[in-house]
Amino acid sequence: MALIAPELYDRLVVLRRTLHQYPELSGQETRTASAIGKFLYDLGIHHRMNIAGHGVVADIPGDSGVPCVVLRADMDALPIQEETGLEFLSVHHGVMHACGHDGHTTMLLGAAALLSQEPDLPAPVRLIFQPAEEKGTGAIAMIKEGALDGAGLIFGGHLDRHYHPGTIVVSEGPVNASSDNFAVEIIGQGAHGARPHESIDAVVVGSLMIMALQTIVSREVDPARPSVVSVGQFHAGTAPNVIAGQAKLEGTVRAQDPAVRQQLLNSVRRIAESIGQLHGAKIYVTVTEGTPPLVNDAVMAGLARRAAIEAVGEANVLPLKTANMGAEDFSYYLEKIPGAYVRFGGQVPGREGYPAHSSKFDFDEEALAVGAAYYRAIARIAGQQLRQHAASS
Ligand code: NI
Repeated sequence: MALIAPELYDRLVVLRRTLHQYPELSGQETRTASAIGKFLYDLGIHHRMNIAGHGVVADIPGDSGVPCVVLRADMDALPIQEETGLEFLSVHHGVMHACGHDGHTTMLLGAAALLSQEPDLPAPVRLIFQPAEEKGTGAIAMIKEGALDGAGLIFGGHLDRHYHPGTIVVSEGPVNASSDNFAVEIIGQGAHGARPHESIDAVVVGSLMIMALQTIVSREVDPARPSVVSVGQFHAGTAPNVIAGQAKLEGTVRAQDPAVRQQLLNSVRRIAESIGQLHGAKIYVTVTEGTPPLVNDAVMAGLARRAAIEAVGEANVLPLKTANMGAEDFSYYLEKIPGAYVRFGGQVPGREGYPAHSSKFDFDEEALAVGAAYYRAIARIAGQQLRQHAASS
């Protein structure tokens, strides 16, 4: 592994496998936090534990008087029973690092090891190890606890099995979608299954609604703007010969553009209420807002690209093929300060078909070295930018 010293790479592989073996759900990351704390302690890096639950914030000194460059990793796992067959399989039943957050934490600790050896950093560097990303609540909680105080710019990244190991994917523009949930309660009139004329059938109303909601993306939104409306739950009924008087639908809405996001939510409400009115059912729509879209601005993506080239060479820096319609709560940090989010190629031959959040997900560990080298480079490049700016203002 030429990107970083072989001894450090070996340490990172051991660490990643240990984290993988002991995955912890969002908000329960105690053991993971201790492992992070111990690694930082051994490096002599000042850090604070138990931020917003089990978050860890570390500070590496640099030119004082310059705002810090923040590097962020997430640390939580998912409620999935692992089926990879790896020798370091999860020992926690029904819990798995199926999104590669074990890798994210490890690569950032690799960067900590590299940066702790570098004298004269142009700006201080702050490392955020964030809990509860999978619930979309960790970033907001870390920000509330002051994780961005004194921060100038922020960078992060995610493993991606669509790209070969050794590559870094950098693009300006949308990287991840927004994520909002909705629920529709349908109140009709229950009746005997043999006497439908005495009912307002909530199952029929709900079924029509689900089909009508499909027309939002296909007929209402500009086809050049990616968007999703999915109904994931439809609960109704108690017996074969009873017409259900009530039903509940729940779904999720994804968009890459704030205006499209609002359009989707407005359309869900309009269609649900209109279908209810059409059939005389009462309709209650609730929207639970989630993470905003993650969008890289051009200047920040430019810095990220320079760092990626420094880490892996220009031939291995790729543009994003398509933005991910999944959510990523890194977007909350970008609402506060500028930054960029990249992807680290992690494809494992033979496992291309197993996406993140699947029980057979794995990534190529070469990405650990790539991530560490990238974070070291971006800490310096973004730090120089901040120092120049501080000197000129
Ligand atoms: Ni993830």
